[in-house]
Amino acid sequence: MSYFEDVKKAAQYVRARLGRLEPHLGIVLGSGLGAAAESVMNPVVIPYEDIPNFPRSTVEGHSGRLVAGTLGGAPVVVMQGRVHYYEGHRPEAVIFPMRVLGTLGIRAVILTNAAGGISEKYRIGQLVLIADHINLMGWNPLVGPNEAQFAFGRKGFGLRFFDMTEAYSKRLRELAVRAAALEGEKLDEGVYLAVSGPSFETPAEIKAFRTMGATLVGMSTVPETIVARHMGVEVLGISCVTNLASGLNETPLSHAEVFEAGRQVERKLADLLERLAMWMSALVDTES
Ligand code: HPA
Repeated sequence: MSYFEDVKKAAQYVRARLGRLEPHLGIVLGSGLGAAAESVMNPVVIPYEDIPNFPRSTVEGHSGRLVAGTLGGAPVVVMQGRVHYYEGHRPEAVIFPMRVLGTLGIRAVILTNAAGGISEKYRIGQLVLIADHINLMGWNPLVGPNEAQFAFGRKGFGLRFFDMTEAYSKRLRELAVRAAALEGEKLDEGVYLAVSGPSFETPAEIKAFRTMGATLVGMSTVPETIVARHMGVEVLGISCVTNLASGLNETPLSHAEVFEAGRQVERKLADLLERLAMWMSALVDTES
């Protein structure tokens, strides 16, 4: 079976489980940031292992389930946990869930992640909007034939070459700033640089990344953004600064520290996501 058929089968399975629910908004929750899934009303919970061909997450702190229902009154599909390249998944597997969400018909996606703060002005626990990214993972998820374009008929998943000048939607960022303001939060913007991991960076790498214009560093999100944009899905990226990047700390970095910092802000993030889900669905639904 082709990759395209694999995606279609997974999407058909999920759609059957959702019944009448038709989410136009997807949300991906990163390391230690899963709390928003608990705010989903009338949830349909689908463990990743139930979905045909779906990759499974092995990282601690990623439970690996799809939670669909309503958030802030809006129909949503939430990925609680994602898979990473450093787990040994192939690029096609890393982006498989985003392909499934796109095939389900989402129009916008909120990608959240835990990130190291490169900018000196960031504080641990701060939420930062991703304004742009730098892909230093060493691969692009769209390398290979754009075969699905033929399999899918006229439109396919997307075009071979496409624009990335506003990969992270400006209007959604503006909406997020307003939503956060109502929660008493001021949201900064930053540039997210993606590495493959799993080792954290060296201080020299962080210095180099800073001169390149990066203010955040992490091991996810960028492949999902590329694939979402390939499918014409609007992207909002939110990083949670779980630690200061390598060389800016007194103590060595650990996953426990990253995970714990995520835990501390996941409630704040969940409240923001609830408001955003309500506002964003109103925005994307009026365009259908
Ligand atoms: N580096 C890379 N990925 C991360 C970090 C970091 O410092 N913190 C959370 N994810």
